[in-house]
Amino acid sequence: MNFEGKRVLITGGGSGIGAAAAEAYRRAGAEVAVFDISFKEERLADKRIEIPVDLTESEQVQAAFSRLWELWDTLDVLVNNAGVEYVASLEDSTEAGWDRVMDVNVKSVFLCCQAALPRLKASRGNIVNTASQLAFVGSSLFTAYTASKAAVVNFTRSLALETAKDCVRVNCVCPGAIDTPLLRRQFEGGRGPQGTLGDLIGMHPMGRLGHPEEIAECILFLSSPAASFVTGSAMMADGGYTVH
Ligand SMILES: NC(=O)c1ccc[n+]([C@@H]2O[C@H](COP(=O)([O-])OP(=O)(O)OC[C@H]3O[C@@H](n4cnc5c(N)ncnc54)[C@H](O)[C@@H]3O)[C@@H](O)[C@H]2O)c1
Repeated sequence: MNFEGKRVLITGGGSGIGAAAAEAYRRAGAEVAVFDISFKEERLADKRIEIPVDLTESEQVQAAFSRLWELWDTLDVLVNNAGVEYVASLEDSTEAGWDRVMDVNVKSVFLCCQAALPRLKASRGNIVNTASQLAFVGSSLFTAYTASKAAVVNFTRSLALETAKDCVRVNCVCPGAIDTPLLRRQFEGGRGPQGTLGDLIGMHPMGRLGHPEEIAECILFLSSPAASFVTGSAMMADGGYTVH
């Protein structure tokens, strides 16, 4: 896939799937900007911009976009990928935990799409959101997370309808268990919410975890001309998890 001359903004590109996507776009020739809360300071490198921002704070999001528009006057692709998990039974869940997962996983998508849409309309560009296979199936101890990812899928569909006339395509990718720091944190105490790592792997008919690079390839495909008639879709990339 060739993204030569294209400008791509990725949220949560400091780690895991977002970092893999940033690298894949760079290798495909794109200029890449990354918004992430983990960055200590702004960095401008060759064809790569890093801007620190907490995407749950609308004023910070506005400031990050204002800075980006000082550096770029166009945008071709927005990848809304930043996300957090919240693992807790309903009885143990807190309002703060619920708000955090909804703000990072859903509100940030709304805020970034709103800020980027005028430029994406001008470029007839693309939005790709990172949802999850857990948007389509339930998972004990993941009520807030699964609700947030189902919200991302239907947000994707509705925005795709709204922007189709402007030739802005909007899609999402739905990964299964991918070997990233987010996933590994579940097993810091030995067992995760779905048992051992081996138990989780066993829920995937392909018998392994996915790699961040495999999800990056899906993101690039959805935002490429190869997917020119694809909009409003939720691409499963879950090693068969949801096929049962
Ligand atoms: N890893 C998996 O198994 C898996 C499965 C399905 C979906 N996903 C989704 O994929 C996306 C990426 O997850 P990952 O596994 O690469 O996780 P990760 O923890 O490796 O990366 C997430 C990135 O988001 C950033 N981030 C978190 N909160 C932020 C905030 N408030 N503002 C700005 N940046 C913020 C983090 O700093 C981090 O760099 C998430 O949306 C996640 O829900 C992951």
